[in-house]
Amino acid sequence: MNGKRNQGRSSTAVYPGSFDPVTFGHLDIIRRAAKQFDRVIVAVLNNISKKPLFTVEERTALLREVTRDLPNVEVDSFRDLLVNYMRSKNAEIILRGIRSVTDFEYELQLASTNRQLDEGIETIFMMTNPKYSYLSSSIVKEIASFGGNVSDLVPPAVEAALRAKYAQGEDVVKLTAPPRRKSGAKRAD
Ligand SMILES: Nc1ncnc2c1ncn2[C@@H]1O[C@H](COP(=O)(O)OP(=O)(O)O)[C@@H](O)[C@H]1O
Ligand SMILES: [Mg+2]
Repeated sequence: MNGKRNQGRSSTAVYPGSFDPVTFGHLDIIRRAAKQFDRVIVAVLNNISKKPLFTVEERTALLREVTRDLPNVEVDSFRDLLVNYMRSKNAEIILRGIRSVTDFEYELQLASTNRQLDEGIETIFMMTNPKYSYLSSSIVKEIASFGGNVSDLVPPAVEAALRAKYAQGEDVVKLTAPPRRKSGAKRAD
């Protein structure tokens, strides 16, 4: 690639993640990205190695619901290697959010790997809104699992979905011993 891949084309950013479930932190990144790029594809990773609370279909439906007012935002899911998915969508920008230095370490590793796989794909980071720097899907799940109030953390549709999930007798989420990442960095989900 010659680094001019985007010439004469509109910009498409893919925002990949677990979104289990989508929070106001994710939504803040999506809204800001919708202003910066012509097209934003929020792509739910169908990752069999993580045990999610919500199915891919549920996560996708919630994302569609909370981004309904954003005409240039689409929601999709993928289980392929991200760079292959990017090519299939003719997208050249990976969008990720950063909350803290612990996020940075893992994100650098991820961005470097993706660059190695396809140097025409650029990873762009957006810094969290400080209001949401502590906010993760894991924290939301932990609070909701104990019946706590998450209305400041997630949109109403997500709050309702959490309530329904835990009413079904979903196991209480334990955050005390999070699984270690390969990099060894401790991150909230
Ligand atoms: N509160 C937040 N503020 C900014 N970015 C966030 C926030 N929560 C998550 N993100 C970012 O959103 C992206 C998706 O996060 P997540 O749903 O946890 O999926 P993943 O399993 O890929 O980490 C990541 O880049 C993450 O850093
Ligand atoms: Mg995460």
